[in-house]
Amino acid sequence: MRKPVVLITGAGGEIGHGLIDGLAQRGDRAIVTIDISRLDDTIAKKVDREVTGSILDRALLERLMAEYEIDLIFHLAALLSTRSEFTPVAAHQVNVEGTLSLLEFAQHEGESHGRPVVFIYPSSIAAYGLPSLDEKQNAGKVSEDQYLHPTTMYGCNKLYCELIGTYYARNYKQLAAESHSGRVDFRCARFPGLISALTLPAGGTSDYAPEMIHAAARGENYGCFVRSDTQIPFMAMPDGVDALLALASAPRDGLQRTAYNVGAFSPTAEDIRNVVVKAFPGAEIAWATDDKRQRIVDSWPADVDDNAARRDWGFSPRYDFHRAFSEYLIPTIRKRYA
Ligand code: SER
Repeated sequence: MRKPVVLITGAGGEIGHGLIDGLAQRGDRAIVTIDISRLDDTIAKKVDREVTGSILDRALLERLMAEYEIDLIFHLAALLSTRSEFTPVAAHQVNVEGTLSLLEFAQHEGESHGRPVVFIYPSSIAAYGLPSLDEKQNAGKVSEDQYLHPTTMYGCNKLYCELIGTYYARNYKQLAAESHSGRVDFRCARFPGLISALTLPAGGTSDYAPEMIHAAARGENYGCFVRSDTQIPFMAMPDGVDALLALASAPRDGLQRTAYNVGAFSPTAEDIRNVVVKAFPGAEIAWATDDKRQRIVDSWPADVDDNAARRDWGFSPRYDFHRAFSEYLIPTIRKRYA
């Protein structure tokens, strides 16, 4: 029998880096990637086949379908929230039409191989839209079904794709109940801002946290584009990757939802600045608010309730705020720029 195949879209991005490592270590599937750009050497050598191209290229997806028996997809390709505000139509094309193409791709793979394709989708706190700062303060940890009124193109895209993913999954459950071979087993983790020690994000609005840390480590000045009291949830990248891997291997029967909040810690921008300045004493970090980006983070929750993920698939992040900095971010970033 052929080794099963995992497909990762947007594999060259921040999550892709850690995920490829994790999947390569596990070694149970051949790894096929698609990204619009070439992967960097550190990860390229760990994949079995690297395809450079767009998820909007139907012919490319059809060729992959003919060639591989894919039973697991991590669909990471997306334009992030700030970038999407500058190019909303392109964002809709990649984030929504791209996801629809991949869902159709998964459904056809499932049909032709007679077993369901597990489809892992990273959504975001951008799916939320809190109406005011007062309400944000009062809301505390928000659950999956509250405040779903995103204000950004990216947030709308993510929320809608959670819904169409659930639509494809419903189809899957119904078919499985009628003992047909299943098709798309859609599972979504709704992420907070992710902070990686190894890569920098591009075009996101939670980027102030990773940018502040990396700039300090490089000895560069940084102007933080949100107010000091800004609060949104964050997570260290290794926990983000582990969450995706855990969600992918969770037994289907235990999953009571298709979209799950995951959270880890929820510092203010000032809390982050304080630990960064302590770790890198010469760091120059000023406040330089960008109104548009501020409005975006003000509409995101201060924290998320992730009890459903803990209950249904054992989500349990390793890094709280202090461990994330002392055991992961600071030592790894120091080494990186040494
Ligand atoms: N980190 C993302 C962004 O800022 C949120 O999903 O766009």
